[in-house]
Amino acid sequence: METITLGKNGAAVPPLCIGTWAWGDKLFWNYGNGYDQQQLQAAFTAALEAGVTFFDTAEIYGMGLSEEFLGQFIKQTTQPVQVATKFSPLPWRFTAQSISDALTESLKRLQLQRIELYQVHWPFAFFLSQETLMNTLADEVKQGRIASIGVSNYSATQMREAHQILAAKGVPLATNQVRYSLLTRQVESQGIIATARELGVTILAYSPLAQGLLTGKYTPESADKPSGARRIDSKFSKEGLQKIASVIFLLRRLGEKRDRTPAQIALNWLIAQGNVIPIAGVKTAEQVKQNAGAFGWKLNNDEIEELEKATRPWLN
Ligand SMILES: NC(=O)c1ccc[n+]([C@@H]2O[C@H](COP(=O)([O-])OP(=O)(O)OC[C@H]3O[C@@H](n4cnc5c(N)ncnc54)[C@H](OP(=O)(O)O)[C@@H]3O)[C@@H](O)[C@H]2O)c1
Repeated sequence: METITLGKNGAAVPPLCIGTWAWGDKLFWNYGNGYDQQQLQAAFTAALEAGVTFFDTAEIYGMGLSEEFLGQFIKQTTQPVQVATKFSPLPWRFTAQSISDALTESLKRLQLQRIELYQVHWPFAFFLSQETLMNTLADEVKQGRIASIGVSNYSATQMREAHQILAAKGVPLATNQVRYSLLTRQVESQGIIATARELGVTILAYSPLAQGLLTGKYTPESADKPSGARRIDSKFSKEGLQKIASVIFLLRRLGEKRDRTPAQIALNWLIAQGNVIPIAGVKTAEQVKQNAGAFGWKLNNDEIEELEKATRPWLN
């Protein structure tokens, strides 16, 4: 299977990553309502069967439950799995030791000795400087507990700074995880995509389905309402859904020609940008199977361009 290297010398991973924010998260996704641990275990198994062995989690997802589930599921397979998790730079964490301690706790929940990618979840680090953060993470790479370092939600300038601090330690910055989909293209207009390319940093695209909007299952007419916090998000209101109807129509039209779903077209468009790995959040095996059909084939240049033109209003 086609693989992508994380940054300059990181792990080789499949072109799609599985997002596990919803795994155990009640606050936003309403875990326990409509899906449970059994469904998640089935989703994990379906991912491995489809060759999607790369998983993204974070210590704060489900207050640790997402990492715990992933750890339990990994324990039950002999297939190699690549795990990316995230450090939360919280106000009471202001020493190098607090970073290493957080990593220790994540590894315990994941039941792993080493992970492929450790990411700083957001750039604002209160009393913790970027130097302390990056230098500590570089030491962890040298000690072998993490293979590569990533950042998340970093602007082009912040990514450049992190890259520079790490370069002085001889460690490349591997990834920047940012919100990126056909309906959230600000990372292009803000120069994040171009800077990542220049620095050899791989982009991990989060919310690549715009939290379900790009699947086309939520329409202004349908009674199908999203679960959890999306219920109060104006993007999921009747007016919000009307605004994106032309994009969904285009995804359907392109999909029908190729016997693909809107979600598969939307994810394939991101992969087609090059240097971009979408992280599709999933709750069920069915969603995994569908999303795994987003790679292994290519939209042609005309289709890529048509989608680009149709979604220019979402560049800003
Ligand atoms: N670094 C960060 O700050 C950050 C922020 C957000 C997310 N992330 C990461 O990115 C991942 C993905 O982002 P996300 O979960 O926000 O959004 P997403 O991947 O755009 O959407 C995920 C949701 O869409 C629906 N869905 C997925 N595949 C589907 C399919 N084939 N058919 C129908 N519905 C489908 C599911 O919800 P329903 O079935 O309920 O509609 C699923 O929970 C997260 O899990 C997390 O790992 C990172």
